[in-house]
Amino acid sequence: MSNLSLLIASSDEAFRQMVRDSMLNLPNAKIAAEYQEVSANLHIRVLQDLERSPGAGLIVDLAADPEAAIKAIERVKQAAPDLFVIASDFRADADTVIACMRAGTNEFLLQPLKRTEFRDAMGRLERAPRQATGGESKLGKIYTFLGSKGGVGTTTLAVNFASVLAQRKVSAGLIDLDWVGNDAAMQLGAAPQYTLMEVAENLDRMDQALFEGFVTRDPLGFFVVGPPDALDQQGQFSDHQFREFATFLVEKYDAVVIDGGRSVSDPVVLAAAQVSTATFLVIDQEFPSLRNAQRYITFLMRMGFNQDQIRVVVNRYTKKINANIASLDQIQQTLNQQVFYGIPPSPAVIASINKARPFVANREQAGDLDRIFRAFVDKATGGKKGAAATNTAA
Ligand SMILES: Nc1ncnc2c1ncn2[C@@H]1O[C@H](COP(=O)(O)OP(=O)(O)OP(=O)(O)O)[C@@H](O)[C@H]1O
Ligand SMILES: [Mg+2]
Repeated sequence: MSNLSLLIASSDEAFRQMVRDSMLNLPNAKIAAEYQEVSANLHIRVLQDLERSPGAGLIVDLAADPEAAIKAIERVKQAAPDLFVIASDFRADADTVIACMRAGTNEFLLQPLKRTEFRDAMGRLERAPRQATGGESKLGKIYTFLGSKGGVGTTTLAVNFASVLAQRKVSAGLIDLDWVGNDAAMQLGAAPQYTLMEVAENLDRMDQALFEGFVTRDPLGFFVVGPPDALDQQGQFSDHQFREFATFLVEKYDAVVIDGGRSVSDPVVLAAAQVSTATFLVIDQEFPSLRNAQRYITFLMRMGFNQDQIRVVVNRYTKKINANIASLDQIQQTLNQQVFYGIPPSPAVIASINKARPFVANREQAGDLDRIFRAFVDKATGGKKGAAATNTAA
């Protein structure tokens, strides 16, 4: 039986609703992802979703800004030449349709969508030759860590995640988007001279040589960039600038790890989560953290995230529960989602923070924590090469 799945890109809720309704009438059809904007880095999100839903088609609403949307389609088609793309607008003037076809669009549908035309287009999507998947995207992956509360260990997990990747010779970077906390650099004993402000100022001429020239490198090999000390500069790095920066990064590096702090509604952090392969929602077993996690998940789902983009990680996880902390079952029931991983409490964490080095840099001292954390990275990245190395070295 064939399965039909579709990615929808439109800033217009009415359009997305119309597509959802039309899909309901088709057997075995599902929406694989929705993007609430047709942004310049649409291709990054599409590639990530195609890994989860190979063979999906993409429908792009041109209405809000046809020129920008056609550019976005062009980049998507460059990144995924076999993807079946449908463009849609209220008008179908010749210039627009020709520009769409040149960008690689397969179909054009006039709005409001007509049921039969939509069904016919879906039929052509179904019959279109499917991508012989196996070719993983060449773009780097972004992983965002988001804390459901302050102090749950978001920075610790992000810092050590980037460290393990670098130890595995993955070209990686760590971006601290927690403007208030700003302590990723502190945990690494780094004192970056240049910050996200310099990134923002140089975005239009950004290239790898320039970036490598001013960015700080951890001794393990990954780059670190974060906010400036001055809190009042926060508004000067916008979500738009972040998107542009992220587009540059995924083309040049294999992995980018983000400390998103706890402000899920900060537009920059939200933009980071949107372009991430996975967002790790870091919680502990205390009820306030669980309650917030529930609010975060609800918010992210409303912003168009799938449940499998959000991965709950319980830090300082213990099976020894009491009346004040939630069990694994309680957490999973409350969040209506499986917990992705539990990281145990360990005195090695504080010891390593005091030394201003990641705990994964001192494997003997971190012991079990080190082993469990590396297994978490394996599961998170789908990497088995690292797992093998860990087992032989242990
Ligand atoms: N698995 C763990 N075992 C023991 N202590 C831990 C663990 N994870 C984090 N900690 C401790 O919890 C404290 C907070 O960690 P961290 O700064 O990483 O959290 P955060 O969520 O980023 O906090 P903030 O809200 O300040 O940004 C640190 O003192 C750290 O040593
Ligand atoms: Mg932090």
